[in-house]
Amino acid sequence: MSQHELFQRHRAVMPKWLGLLYKEPIELVSGSGSYVIDRDGTQYLDFFGGILTTMTGYGVPEVVEAIKDQASKMIHTSTLYLIEPMIELAERLARLSEIDNAKVFFTTSGTEANDAALLFATAYRRSNQVLAVRNSYHGRSFSALAVTSNPGYAATSLSPFHVHYILGGSRLRGPLAGISDEEYIRRGVIDLEDLLHSVLPGGVAALIAEPIQGVGGFSLAPDGYFKAIKAVLDRYEILFISDEVQTGWGRTGESFWGYQAHGMIPDLITFAKGLGNGLAIAGAIGRGEVVDAIPASAISTFGGGPLVARGALANLDFLLAHDLQQNAKKIGSHIKDRLSAETQEFASVADVRGKGLMIGIELCEPNSTIPAPQLASSFLEATKVKQLLVGKGGLDANVIRIAPPLSLSLDDANKGVDIIIECLANLSR
Ligand SMILES: Cc1ncc(COP(=O)(O)O)c(C=O)c1O
Repeated sequence: MSQHELFQRHRAVMPKWLGLLYKEPIELVSGSGSYVIDRDGTQYLDFFGGILTTMTGYGVPEVVEAIKDQASKMIHTSTLYLIEPMIELAERLARLSEIDNAKVFFTTSGTEANDAALLFATAYRRSNQVLAVRNSYHGRSFSALAVTSNPGYAATSLSPFHVHYILGGSRLRGPLAGISDEEYIRRGVIDLEDLLHSVLPGGVAALIAEPIQGVGGFSLAPDGYFKAIKAVLDRYEILFISDEVQTGWGRTGESFWGYQAHGMIPDLITFAKGLGNGLAIAGAIGRGEVVDAIPASAISTFGGGPLVARGALANLDFLLAHDLQQNAKKIGSHIKDRLSAETQEFASVADVRGKGLMIGIELCEPNSTIPAPQLASSFLEATKVKQLLVGKGGLDANVIRIAPPLSLSLDDANKGVDIIIECLANLSR
């Protein structure tokens, strides 16, 4: 059966809002390292890693063996029983988090991780008022959509929270465009102070923020922004939830968690994507008294189960043993430097930004900051023909997202950048 026929079957039976990339979508059936092969046998260099999730690479033997071994012994038991790999993983993550007396709760997706963190924070603070950042994305459930400031994903306005949005997002347009880092931070703090002055009685439970906005097109606030924001929150005892679903595990190169660029430690961290290299493992790490605050019992049938926890442990071991954070830093700087230098003449490239292996190229109408989503779509089609997979994002779907596995080699980085430059040059003609 061809990919086209599969696409027809998909359309007939899957929801119409389940987005697919490319005019003729592809099925990726196998992979090795940073490469994947589609159903027709075409090989691609993968600069998107299943949405920043294939962290150590495809087919890493140590991870595959751990999964096979665990699958042959025990796949599932539930949180009603002790699960050694889950406990060991929680111990490791608690230590990696820098949070005092940390406890960990495992879930099966980033959405559910944020839902859990928001539940802990609102229970602890006995308030349903929550702050989020403009241009955010935190998932697709009622609670995650309630703190998602992206109309493209806003499937509902029903909300379990009363939400206020603080300043953040694009630095190309809007209230934060064209100003210095210091001024950005100053305005953010003034805006937050003003906002907190006018919130409803009862106080605010928490702020949820992505250190680098993922779906929002790899937009990032200046380093130190969230430290300044947290200093204000601390005065009101408002908790800080760092959504590290995209920025965790060293992806940003300079630090293990995205929040570390800001010089502060959050009260809660949510994680997903890279930890399991594709296994459905996610969760929230938080101060013990906050995580313990929910006034009822809970179970998680799947969260942190034996199979996913074993796989995640093997994946984490591989990441740390090979210092992939350092690789992300080295290879990411190289890619960004090349892209910045070699796109200078391209009138439609309005910005090259990001950290480590999380790099965005914002495409706009020539010599302007007017978003050009059509150009981004054409770019994706063009790179596909050249056998390179990249992602897309941004409030206007005009940002190219580059986020390969953290194990990407220098040769493959250069190969991908050559294709990107060639495709951008062709589009600029
Ligand atoms: C920052 C962030 N938070 C949460 C989520 C939701 O994660 P999931 O798709 O695993 O539910 C995503 C997904 O892209 C994300 O980028």
